[in-house]
Amino acid sequence: MEIKRKKLVIGNWKMFKDAVQASADFENLSDSVTEKNLSIEVGIAAPSIFLADLARKTRNTVSLFAQNAHWAEEGAFTGEVSPTMLKSIHVLGSLVAHSERRQMFAETNQTAGGRISALLNLGMRAIYCVGETLVEREKGLLKEILISQLEQAFIATKIRNSQSFIGSDPNKPLLSIAYEPVWAIGTGKAASAVEAQEAHTIIRNFLQSYFGEELGNRFQILYGGSVKASNVNEYINCPNIDGALVGGASLVPKDFLELCMKCAN
Ligand code: 13P
Repeated sequence: MEIKRKKLVIGNWKMFKDAVQASADFENLSDSVTEKNLSIEVGIAAPSIFLADLARKTRNTVSLFAQNAHWAEEGAFTGEVSPTMLKSIHVLGSLVAHSERRQMFAETNQTAGGRISALLNLGMRAIYCVGETLVEREKGLLKEILISQLEQAFIATKIRNSQSFIGSDPNKPLLSIAYEPVWAIGTGKAASAVEAQEAHTIIRNFLQSYFGEELGNRFQILYGGSVKASNVNEYINCPNIDGALVGGASLVPKDFLELCMKCAN
């Protein structure tokens, strides 16, 4: 049984902008999203240092996410930010295990699971990023890699009540998956719609087998990797592509708005 999932488009600002630029761009985007009254959910994953300021500006039009969150409630973890801290400034959730964190900051499926459970236990949202490298794809390991990234992280959450992964708002499941093939990130070489759909179908099938068909159909699966206003239409109308996680093309509010408007049509 297919259910209608609300589209979700998140801009990942990574480590770009200074405080003045971040504030101005966020306000600009919030004003435009309010004015256009879009039917989709628009979010920004901002550097943690800007979140408190941006949270005061959201007016609930743009959903605010962190780019990472620790698995512990508090503790001796110099330089880290906990979900409790994020919640206290009204941040809704966080990206988890972005491939740049897997590649450069030793993120594993197990640490990802810890972060997901810490967020979900506070009723916060987790956008869990998965995806294969070019070498893995060329070796024919796409399915194996995606399933191990999902399964190992879900097991590591130690959450056994499937409903806890969804929460109470049907339009905003607490867990979302972002499929971001590593070879398509920041390279300008986006996956084709066929390639993206193949991966999204693997992910959907896994979610249905792990959580049961009804719950497994409710999670949003976003595509990320060189998405821009000029190519987003290829993805957004495909079955099982419920939105996008956008890097470079989210940095200029006008361009990102154009991309979001295409997803809302
Ligand atoms: P680009 O859109 O710049 O390829 O980045 C994708 C990404 O990593 C979003 O999280």
